[in-house]
Amino acid sequence: MARVQWASRIGFVLAAAGSAVGLGNIWKFPYIAGVNGGGAFVLIYLVSIALIGFPIMIAELLLGRGTQSSPVMAFSKMAGEESNWKAVGWIGVATGFIILSYYSVVAGWSLNYVLMSICDFTNDKSPEQINSLFDTLSASGGINIFWHSIFMLITIGIVIGGVRKGIEKWSKILMPVLFVILVVLVVRSIFMPGFMQGIEFVFAPDLSALTAAGVLEAVGHAFFTLSLGMGAMLTYGSYLSKKEDLVKASVVVCSLDTLIALMACLIIFPIVFSFGFAPNAGPGLAFKTIPVVFSQIIGGSLLSILFFLLLAFAALTSAISLLEVVTAHFIDSLGWTRKKAALITGSLIFMFGIPSALSGSKWIFSEWEDLFTKNFFDTMDYLATNWMLPLGGLLMAIYVGWFAKKATIRAEFTQGSKYGSLFGAWLFVLRFIVPITMVVVLLYKVGILQVGPES
Ligand code: PFF
Repeated sequence: MARVQWASRIGFVLAAAGSAVGLGNIWKFPYIAGVNGGGAFVLIYLVSIALIGFPIMIAELLLGRGTQSSPVMAFSKMAGEESNWKAVGWIGVATGFIILSYYSVVAGWSLNYVLMSICDFTNDKSPEQINSLFDTLSASGGINIFWHSIFMLITIGIVIGGVRKGIEKWSKILMPVLFVILVVLVVRSIFMPGFMQGIEFVFAPDLSALTAAGVLEAVGHAFFTLSLGMGAMLTYGSYLSKKEDLVKASVVVCSLDTLIALMACLIIFPIVFSFGFAPNAGPGLAFKTIPVVFSQIIGGSLLSILFFLLLAFAALTSAISLLEVVTAHFIDSLGWTRKKAALITGSLIFMFGIPSALSGSKWIFSEWEDLFTKNFFDTMDYLATNWMLPLGGLLMAIYVGWFAKKATIRAEFTQGSKYGSLFGAWLFVLRFIVPITMVVVLLYKVGILQVGPES
C-alpha cells in the first residue's frame, strides 16, 4: 500500500516547524541563553544550527523520504534487515518515548498557567507569592498528573487522526495562531523601557561570558530544538512526496525555528530587564519571572494568557511528532492500526511520565535522587537531550556520510531539488565537520577531554 503523504507543501512545513518549535524555543532557549550570558551563547547556537543541525536535518528527511519508513524500518531497508544500524532507529524510538514522558509534564504546567491566568492569579500577590506558586505547583503531584494526562490525551487524539487529518490539520491551525501571539508579545516588548538592553543581551556577544560548558550546551540544544537525532524529521520525511525539495524545506524549517527562538528572547529579556530582574533565573524564568512581570503591566493578565497559550501550543505540535515516531514504528513494523498504536504507546508514555510528574514532590522517589544526584525528571531530560539525541544524530550523520550507498543518497538529495549542486559540500560537512565536532563534544561530556582548568 502506498504510504500516506502530506496533503500540501505548506502542511508539511508547518508540521515540521511545529515539531521543531516547542518548549525548547520558548521555555528553554531563553533561560539557557540567560544562564550562559546571552549574546556569545546565542552566536555559538546559531553556528551549531547552521553547521550541524542543518546538514543533519537534510540527512534525516532524506532517509525518511528515501525509505518511506519510520526510523527502525528505514535503517532496515537502507542498511539491510540484519544490520546493526537498526539500533540507531531503536535509539530514536526510545528517545521519543522518554522525551515525551517528561515534556508532557512541562506542557501540563503551561496548561495550568493558562487556567491560572484566566483566573487572574497574580491579582493582589507579591512577587514572592507569585514565585512560590510555581514551587507549589511542581510539588503538587496530583495536579501534575492531572495536566499530564490531559495533555497526553490531546496528543494521542491528534495522532490518532492521522498524518493529514490529525497532524497536518492541527499544525495548520496552531502554528499560525502561535505566530500571531508571538508577534503581539514581541510588539509589546518593543515598548518596554528595557528593550534595548534586551536586544544587547541577546545580540551583542560578550565572549568573556562564555564557558566551555556553555558551548557544549549550545551544540546539544541545536539537536533538541530542531527535533533531530531521534528520527522525528525522518518520520515526517517519510510522508513527503518525491517532488519536494529537501534542501529548501530544511532551510525553511531551520530558519523558522531559529527565528522563533530569537523572538522568544525578544519577548522575555526586555521585560526582565525593564523590571530589573536577573536574566539568569534558570528554568523558572518563564514560570516565575514572567508572571511577576505581567502582574505589573497594564493588561498583563491577557498577555499572560497569551504567553502560556503560546507555550502550550508550541508544546503540542512538538509532542505530536514525538508520539508519531513511536506510533509510526509500531504501525510499520508490527502492522498495528494507527488507533491501537497511538493508544497503547501513548498510555505507556503517560505511565512512564508519572515519576517525572511526581519529581517535584520531595517525598516520592527521593531514593532516586539519592542514587543519581538528579530527580527522575531531570535524569530523563539529561539522558535524552545530552546523550541520546547527540548520539543518534552523530550515528545518522556517520551512516549517511560514510556507509549508505553514495549513489542512493545523491539521487535522493537531488530529487526535486534546485540545489543538487550542493551535494558535494553537504556530504563533506556530514562526513567530517559534523562527526568531528560531535565526537569532541561527546568526549568533553564524558570527561575524557577537559573543560578548562578544574571545572
Ligand atoms: N524540538 C522540540 C522543542 O524544541 O521543544 C522538542 C523535540 C520535539 C525534540 C521532537 C525532539 C523531537 F523529536
